[in-house]
Parts: sequence; structure tokens; C-alpha cells
Amino acid sequence: MNRAFQYAFATLPALAVLGLFAYFSNWIPQTRWEPPQKRQISEQMTPIELAKIGEVLARERGCMLCHTLEPGVGVKGLGRGPNFFQLALRRKEGVPGGPNDLISYLVQALYEPGAYVVENYPNIMPPSWAPPAKLTYEELTAVIAYLQSLGGTPSVRVGQIPKPPTGASPFTPSTPKPPAGLSPEEIAEAQKLLEKYGCMACHSLGGQGGQLGPALDRPGISEEAKELGLSLEEYLRQSILNPGAYVVEGFSDVMPKDLGKKMTAEEFELLVRYLASLGGGHK
Ligand code: HEC
Ligand code: HEC
Repeated sequence: MNRAFQYAFATLPALAVLGLFAYFSNWIPQTRWEPPQKRQISEQMTPIELAKIGEVLARERGCMLCHTLEPGVGVKGLGRGPNFFQLALRRKEGVPGGPNDLISYLVQALYEPGAYVVENYPNIMPPSWAPPAKLTYEELTAVIAYLQSLGGTPSVRVGQIPKPPTGASPFTPSTPKPPAGLSPEEIAEAQKLLEKYGCMACHSLGGQGGQLGPALDRPGISEEAKELGLSLEEYLRQSILNPGAYVVEGFSDVMPKDLGKKMTAEEFELLVRYLASLGGGHK
């Protein structure tokens, strides 16, 4: 045999297998791309039919970006949210101090995830009726039927669960998230200090407050501090203790010079941390 022939002889079977694979993979349902379609969910559908649609919805609407389905590892899988495996079994009787049957618990978990936060997880799940999942009433029912099927038997039907809340979600981007590193108590305390020392007479936050001074959450403040060779915290300390040292462009040097002296050291540091966590170019 000559070399070229030998080569072809050796590679042809591999090519044939590849070709077959490429051909068939088109027919394996998961690998075929289908545009998301509007699914008609009717009141007549059985819980099993609903569960099938719910499974697709859970994937398409991003639930599985955080949740996983991992057999045999308990609640804590590898996901950012709890493991869905046998969820229905685990939550057969709801949760301590909360709804005590599965459907009511799932309704709460999807409508108001913060009402019961699963142990060892942060409260990061957006309500399922709000963006980004934005499930309709019928779709919520289908997803609940799907979750019921994980370690249980779906029984929910359209019309059986309460309607989701309407109006703005607590997770819409217009509501700023609490700044990292500060507890809700510290944030509340810092905001009180801003009132107590009259800062809000001249400064604004979230568009509310005085206009004589720059907005305390103005973007670009970090960059400006950097240009002055200061960290954001150093710049903020200086701004309060010695406002005349650097006067923000477009404003005049009217900020009282004695504010720092009126505060306790704790109050001062808390304010600096709070202000540093606001806009400040961190976003
Ligand atoms: C950004 C990540 C994230 C997304 C997206 C997300 N979840 Fe969650 N989910 C979590 C976390 C974290 C928890 C646990 C904390 C809590 O209870 O809020 C949780 C809890 C749950 C629970 C309760 C689980 C239990 O063990 O009791 C259910 C049910 C649930 N999610 C369903 C859904 C569904 C359905 C969707 C999609 C419509 C979804 N989640 C989207 C993060 C997410
Ligand atoms: C009488 C009005 C007034 C009061 C009261 C006031 N400020 Fe100011 N503040 C200003 C003005 C005007 C500027 C901009 C000029 C400057 O830098 O001196 C400024 C600048 C600042 C800056 C720098 C902001 C930036 O964008 O670079 C910070 C931080 C600040 N103030 C915090 C405070 C805090 C905290 C309080 C309360 C403890 C307070 N200010 C009270 C008027 C005031």
C-alpha cells in the first residue's frame, strides 16, 4: 500500500463517524436550536402537562443560572441557589415559621423570595413575576407544577394559586442595592447623621436634598480623588474636615469648616465609609 492510501484508510472511519455524529446531533432535541416560542397555557391542562412547560420555562427564564439539579448532595449543590433535586420532598411540609404546605411555600418562594431565605444563602433571588424572569400568572403555575414534580407529584392547576403582586418589583434597578460592606443598620445610622449635621440642606442623595453642594452620589468623584493623589476615603475625610482644601468645580467654598469637629470619631468614620460606598465611581 502506498502512504497516501494508508492515510486515507486510517482516517476514513473517523471521518465517517464524525459525519454521522454531525448528522444525528441535529436530531438530538437538546442540540437543536429552536427560537423561544410563546407557549399557550390553558386552564384545561393537567398538572403533568403544566410541569413539562414549567421545566422549559425554568431553563429559558434563567432559574437554572442560579439553581442546579444534582442528585444526592442535599440542599447545597454547586449553584448560587439551592439544589432543586427532590425539592418537593424536602419542602413537603413547607418551612418552619412559614407556609406549611408545598404549594403555598412555592408560591411564597417565587412571589416573595425574601420572606423566607434558605439557610446559608444570600437574599439575591429576584421575584419570579418581576424582571428578568417575568413569569405570567399561568407561567408561574407551570413552574410550580414543575417544582412539585421534583420528588413529588404535580397537582396544581391554573386558577388555584393567588395572583402575583402587581406594580414595581423591589428589585427594579431604580432601587439602589445596599452599599457593600455596610449593614442596613449602619446605612440607616449614616443617613441619620447626614440629617443631624445638616448635610442634606446643601447636598442631595438620589436626587433628594439641597443643591448648594454637589450630589453626594455624583459619579466621577473617585476619579477626581485619584487626580488629587488621594484614595476616595482620604478625599472624603478631607472634604469634611477641611472643605476649603479643594473646592469642587462649579461650586463655592461655603461648606462649614467645623462640621468634623462636631462629630464623634465613630460618626465621622461611619459617614466616610457610607459616602465611599455610594456612587463614587464604584458602580
Ligand atoms: C440570581 C440567582 C437566582 C435566580 C435567577 C433564581 N433563584 Fe431561586 N433562589 C436563589 C437563592 C440564593 C435562593 C435561596 C435564598 C432564598 O431563599 O431566597 C433561592 C431559593 C429558591 C427557592 C426555594 C428553595 C428551597 O430550597 O426552599 C425556590 C423554589 C426557587 N428559588 C425557585 C426559583 C425559580 C423558579 C427561579 C426562576 C423563575 C429562580 N428561583 C431564580 C437564587 C436564584
Ligand atoms: C452650607 C452648605 C453645605 C453643608 C451644610 C455641607 N456641605 Fe458639603 N459641600 C458644600 C459645597 C458647596 C461643596 C463643594 C465645594 C467644596 O468642595 O468645598 C461641598 C463638598 C462636599 C464634599 C465633596 C463632594 C464632591 O463631590 O467632591 C463632601 C464629601 C461633602 N461636602 C460632604 C458633606 C457632609 C458629610 C456634610 C455634613 C456633615 C456637608 N458636606 C455639609 C456645601 C455644604
